[in-house]
Amino acid sequence: MGKAVVISFANQKGGVGKTTTVSEVGENLARVYDKKVLMIDIDPQSSLTTIKGAMPQILNEDLKTMSNVMMKENDLSDIILPIKKNLDLAPSTLFLSDVELNLVSATMREIILQKAISKIVDQYDYVLIDCPPSRGLLTVNALASSDYVIIPVQSEYQALIGMQLLKNTIKNVQHEINNNLKVGGYVITMTSHTNHSNETAESIKQDKFNTIVEIPRSIDVADAGVANMSTHEYNSDNKAGLQYLRLSKHVTEMEK
Ligand SMILES: Nc1ncnc2c1ncn2[C@@H]1O[C@H](COP(=O)(O)OP(=O)(O)OP(=O)(O)O)[C@@H](O)[C@H]1O
Ligand SMILES: [Mg+2]
Repeated sequence: MGKAVVISFANQKGGVGKTTTVSEVGENLARVYDKKVLMIDIDPQSSLTTIKGAMPQILNEDLKTMSNVMMKENDLSDIILPIKKNLDLAPSTLFLSDVELNLVSATMREIILQKAISKIVDQYDYVLIDCPPSRGLLTVNALASSDYVIIPVQSEYQALIGMQLLKNTIKNVQHEINNNLKVGGYVITMTSHTNHSNETAESIKQDKFNTIVEIPRSIDVADAGVANMSTHEYNSDNKAGLQYLRLSKHVTEMEK
């Protein structure tokens, strides 16, 4: 096993499908492509930790989480939980929001996660980071650690407005912290067949960054998340699940 390819899933807009995309790609890479995957939850909302079913154990057993890693109290290897075959999770809780405030005065505050990942990068094929809906220090830490950033974006007009800000953050990280960071492309999420949705998808596609896939809106995606599965495993005929499988194949072709 070589060194892992590290991929952040980022967009400062909330509810665009970041967490869902990390879960879908993680599940598919582990189960269908037999890759060893670590998912890192760097969002204080802890949605990924919740949908992967880890939250009760963390609270009952008072386990260490990403808060401890970002405060440099623990290594990632101390907090990683096995979820299923080939699939591990570095969980977070709401306390991570306090950590973001404390980080402001920490030395080398932008590369704490990068250093933590460098110690375990040989143990995985892929590290997938679920970012919070902000461009703050937690997202900057994720981008500073990554070979690629994949941008889930909803096909709504408002989604385009914030895109320039996100691109500025990516450019700053590329110039100042991590010149290895590449834009892996867009995933247009929750598409529907309205004219408005189509027009927006078209204008996203005209951007110089490439679109990887379009994921249709489907109740099976949400239900599969609740069932702690990929949509493709939940319902192999589902179009969204098949598109997520395509995205996962695309990820297997990404090199460092
Ligand atoms: N293709 C889809 N079809 C239907 N529902 C979807 C689809 N993708 C995501 N959802 C649902 O949309 C909601 C938001 O998705 P998700 O949590 O992945 O977004 P997010 O970008 O991670 O949000 P946040 O910014 O709050 O972290 C969830 O309830 C999820 O189940
Ligand atoms: Mg999320």
